[in-house]
Amino acid sequence: MKTDIRNRSDIEKLVNSFYDRIKTDATIGYLFTDVAKVNWELHLPRMYDFWDNILFSSGNFEGNPMRKHKELHEKSEMNKSHFQHWNFLFDQTVDDLFIGTKAEEIKLRAMNISALMMHKTLGE
Ligand code: HEM
Repeated sequence: MKTDIRNRSDIEKLVNSFYDRIKTDATIGYLFTDVAKVNWELHLPRMYDFWDNILFSSGNFEGNPMRKHKELHEKSEMNKSHFQHWNFLFDQTVDDLFIGTKAEEIKLRAMNISALMMHKTLGE
């Protein structure tokens, strides 16, 4: 049975499942695997911290997401549909695994951050 996102362990489950989908995704997978050549052992724990901080105010995350994505865009041009697809995959992952208030909140937060990131990265 599905539950709400209750703790860091649930965040880890969500993040792992999301990036499993990302890695093989035909639309944006290459940005992670070929362009950025992501080191997953470093990236996944960073993303646990990021979402743990957003949903449960853990105060763990230290990073500069806006700069990272600007650098990525300079290496390989991104557009609005890349970001929309990112959010589509994120929402799909959340809905496959969880249900409840925190599940709704994380999708909304992801959408808002994505809009801001798109604006800062692409200038749109
Ligand atoms: C087309 C959309 C996106 C692409 C292709 C993308 C790709 C990437 C890549 C390649 C990295 C760097 C990984 C590394 O350090 O090696 C990264 C980092 C990150 N991304 Fe994204 N991303 C996208 C959208 C988003 C969105 C919408 C969010 C948040 C809601 C997000 C949150 C983050 C965070 C928090 C980091 C870590 C930044 C840091 O370490 O300072 N990304 N992303």
